[in-house]
Amino acid sequence: MVIIVTGGAGFIGSNFVFYMLKKHSNYRIVCLDKLTYAGNLSTLASVMDNPNFRFVKLDICDRAGVNQLFEEEKPDVVVNFAAESHVDRSIETPEIFLKTNILGTQVLMDACRQYGIQRYHQVSTDEVYGDLPLNRPDLFFTEETPIHTSSPYSASKAGADLLVMAYHRTYNLPVTISRCSNNYGPYHFPEKLIPLMIANALADKPLPVYGEGLNVRDWLYVEDHCRAIDLIIHKGKVGEVYNVGGHNEMKNIDIVKLICKELGKPESLIVHVEDRKGHDMRYAIDPTKIHTELGWLPETKFEEGIKKTIQWYLEHMEWWQTIISGEYRNYYEKMYGNRAEV
Ligand code: NAD
Ligand code: TYD
Repeated sequence: MVIIVTGGAGFIGSNFVFYMLKKHSNYRIVCLDKLTYAGNLSTLASVMDNPNFRFVKLDICDRAGVNQLFEEEKPDVVVNFAAESHVDRSIETPEIFLKTNILGTQVLMDACRQYGIQRYHQVSTDEVYGDLPLNRPDLFFTEETPIHTSSPYSASKAGADLLVMAYHRTYNLPVTISRCSNNYGPYHFPEKLIPLMIANALADKPLPVYGEGLNVRDWLYVEDHCRAIDLIIHKGKVGEVYNVGGHNEMKNIDIVKLICKELGKPESLIVHVEDRKGHDMRYAIDPTKIHTELGWLPETKFEEGIKKTIQWYLEHMEWWQTIISGEYRNYYEKMYGNRAEV
């Protein structure tokens, strides 16, 4: 089996590459990644010499390059992680989100049509469902929840999802989609909540919580997400959407306090800053379908996963310190420099 994994130098994609090489030692895994600010070749260092692995630096929007790769590799399966993935960046510069997330998806699916494929899997997000109110803890996102997006990021992911389903219906492309809740774990880029707070806390820097910090996210350890995708590409039904989440809702402020506690840092580092525009209140996945149809359940409890994650960041300081000492500093200054305290 030959699997093309796009975006495999990013957070979830790299974890998926490691998971698949370990689990399926007879598969060939080809990672296609543009190496944007979020992609890091050093993340893949441990598998670069694996004979079952190939890395190709390529933009998913580059039709000729993508076609050539399909010609060379004749993939059985494509798993598309490649995306612009940060909501705050999408609020600043929406265009690249539309280009990569929607048009890039189209280029990949066109190649799948042209060269034939057993499965095209689109890695999507629960954010396509919009948000839920805090005062209705009985409500969850199911696969039937209408698409109702808030940010340019989620709108671009929803656009891609609609296109994937259109290619299935119109061209009979064998597709599946997974919509997962917030992931955390090793190699998470330090612009996102959990790694940003770990990095700042370790440097005794302010911990910028948007607004009151009451927004709720449904956190899943990244390896559980990888296992879900592996199951879906092997056993999931073509044309179907699977929600992935582990019923682990946490308020942002509680996560930040927990990180302070684990690192022995004072909560006085927490600063409440100007809220994100259009900030979604609550995400919460109903994972009944993937549980009943494919037998998936999360294996890592949050208390254990967050400890493992913090430990990983302590043991891999060089990985994230290299990132935050580069272009990231300009990003941080731009995003947080003028953010008023509230
Ligand atoms: P990430 O930003 O860490 O990684 C994205 C990767 O895609 C990077 O390696 C980047 O170089 C690559 N990339 C970006 N544009 C590209 C292009 N045009 N061509 C080729 N490669 C390109 O993102 P992530 O957090 O690992 O998310 C991966 C996928 O999972 C995304 O599609 C995202 O929407 C989805 N997702 C993420 C989460 C989460 O909590 N992080 C939750 C649900 C779904
Ligand atoms: P993030 O990790 O960007 O993921 P998403 O927006 O896709 O859910 O943010 C998670 C939550 O943390 C979200 O409610 C915004 C909030 N947040 C902060 O309060 N401060 C920060 O510096 C960041 C990056 C996020």
